[in-house]
Amino acid sequence: MTATATEAPVLEVEDLEVDFISGDKVTYVLEGVSLEVRRGEAIGIVGESGSGKSVLARTILGIRPRGTVVDIRGAVRVSGKDQLAASDGEIRSRAGSLASMIYQDPMRSLNPTVRVWKQIVEAVTNRRRVPAKDAQAHAVDLLRQVGVPDPEARAMAYPGEFSGGMLQRVGIAAAIAAHPDVLLADEPTTALDVTVQRRVLDLLEQVRAESGMGLVLVTHDLGLLADRTDRTVVMYAGRVMETGPTSIVASTPAHPYTKGLLAAIPRLTGPVQRELPAIGGSLPPLSAPRAGCPFAARCPVAQDRCATQRPPAVAVADGHTAHCWAVADEQEATK
Ligand SMILES: Nc1ncnc2c1ncn2[C@@H]1O[C@H](COP(=O)(O)OP(=O)(O)O)[C@@H](O)[C@H]1O
Ligand SMILES: [Mg+2]
Repeated sequence: MTATATEAPVLEVEDLEVDFISGDKVTYVLEGVSLEVRRGEAIGIVGESGSGKSVLARTILGIRPRGTVVDIRGAVRVSGKDQLAASDGEIRSRAGSLASMIYQDPMRSLNPTVRVWKQIVEAVTNRRRVPAKDAQAHAVDLLRQVGVPDPEARAMAYPGEFSGGMLQRVGIAAAIAAHPDVLLADEPTTALDVTVQRRVLDLLEQVRAESGMGLVLVTHDLGLLADRTDRTVVMYAGRVMETGPTSIVASTPAHPYTKGLLAAIPRLTGPVQRELPAIGGSLPPLSAPRAGCPFAARCPVAQDRCATQRPPAVAVADGHTAHCWAVADEQEATK
């Protein structure tokens, strides 16, 4: 968490819109998402399940869904390179070197029948020929770096021989093997118990600090982001609701949705809460573009126009923005 505003962005997302088309059914998942990550910076993306966080992460990586037509508008650049116009071949050859991802369930992204060392260095060996001995040594180094004990022996093991927490470390080793400019972690700890969660997040922070890459931590739990990210982007129903320094968003949120999220942070010992008891209701259907503010129907301070007019981006403070009519009124009143 040391980035300065003078550094060039490693990730730029501009007004990104993603629709999935299946027959005559259209799902409008992302509706104009913009964000930026600078070198060495860690940002959090937080929002309820179904908000489009994973679709956003996959679109940034250049992964297109199979078997679905997808219509993407806007721009995604990683270190200045267009991720949307790139061919599948280009995306594959870039794989892991520009942007790479750590998944929620590493077991699903790893092949159970292949020794882990081969999978860790796959992104590197796919792009260029590397002698097996060197590739294996690189994998052992990475395992050591992510804190897997006895890395020489563990490199030869299969995924099924690891605990959940250790397997997530293998996933992190694979994601950083090709020195990505941006590392995306999509709910990397939800399957883990609280102590292991914390260790994995500490490890990500350490890796980020050592490598200088940008880190995007995706979660439905705002409480996880404090002290681990410089800035937070709050998403709801495919839109950015609020963005600002994490410490400020988490302590004095401006948007009514963020206030609700904060009130719903699960206790550390309790079960993960999927709904927001503090707000009630659920996400609007994504089968139509959202008119006005997507949160209007659940919002305690909604006005008539919230249902029909898209809220403006309101600058609450330097680097702190909320998309909300009520916040716009408050700002107007204090002028
Ligand atoms: N391939 C797809 N085809 C159609 N709809 C999809 C596809 N992938 C995701 N979606 C829809 O996009 C919405 C957002 O999903 P997702 O990005 O997984 O949310 P989050 O990660 O925030 O929980 C969901 O309504 C989901 O059903
Ligand atoms: Mg998700």
